Amino acid sequence: MEPNTKPPRFAGFSPEFQSEFYRLLQARRSIRKFQKKAVDETTLNRLLEAALQAPSGKNRQNWRFYVLQGAKRDEYVKLSQKSWLGIKDVLEKRLKPSLYEFTERFFFTLGEAPVVILCYSYNDEEERYHTSVGSVYMAVENLNLACVAEGLGCCTMGAPLEIKAEVDKFLGVDQLPEHKEGKLELLCGIVLGWPDHDPPKAPRQHEDRIHFLK
Ligand SMILES: Cc1cc2nc3c(=O)[nH]c(=O)nc-3n(C[C@H](O)[C@H](O)[C@H](O)COP(=O)(O)O)c2cc1C
Repeated sequence: MEPNTKPPRFAGFSPEFQSEFYRLLQARRSIRKFQKKAVDETTLNRLLEAALQAPSGKNRQNWRFYVLQGAKRDEYVKLSQKSWLGIKDVLEKRLKPSLYEFTERFFFTLGEAPVVILCYSYNDEEERYHTSVGSVYMAVENLNLACVAEGLGCCTMGAPLEIKAEVDKFLGVDQLPEHKEGKLELLCGIVLGWPDHDPPKAPRQHEDRIHFLK
């Protein structure tokens, strides 16, 4: 008889690990101020590898990440400053003055984040649009959580969408055939580095958010 070579079925993590995991979820918050300290390549690769572990519709792994560091990151900051001009009027009405000023500073410096990741979705007729987009955000969240595990911080940003066409051009994405076919779409940016502040947890709402049906 053939020996049973199947690996044992995964029996779950220890209760200690489980409680640490929930603590990690609770600890995650958007970080918008970073130390002037580089993130080493090994750590950065671990974060990106964590992103790639995410589920995706039909396992198409339709995410594309552009990781900016050094001079390219500096050039991107200049583009980000331009994006501020596109949204400042809306935010001025919505945010209290102190938060508005903080946000403005953030857009101008990206909190001094040493790494900026621009996240794209490859959408084609093989999969529904929202499934493609959602799959990329699954990977983005994996990366967010991996940052917390590493003691790093990050902030996911929709702001780059204000200057979508410029970002596509900046990265050279606009020259790709899939972009020309309208299949490659910028979804968000992630600024990432070693935290230099410890913001309070943004409150969570429960009302009308979860509906149990039996
Ligand atoms: C898709 C998405 C886009 C976001 N865009 C921005 C942004 O452009 N600028 C910013 O400062 N924060 C941005 N955020 C962060 C949210 O403001 C933040 O997640 C929310 O206020 C809850 O706070 P927390 O992340 O600390 O729990 C974004 C978050 C997500 C998920």
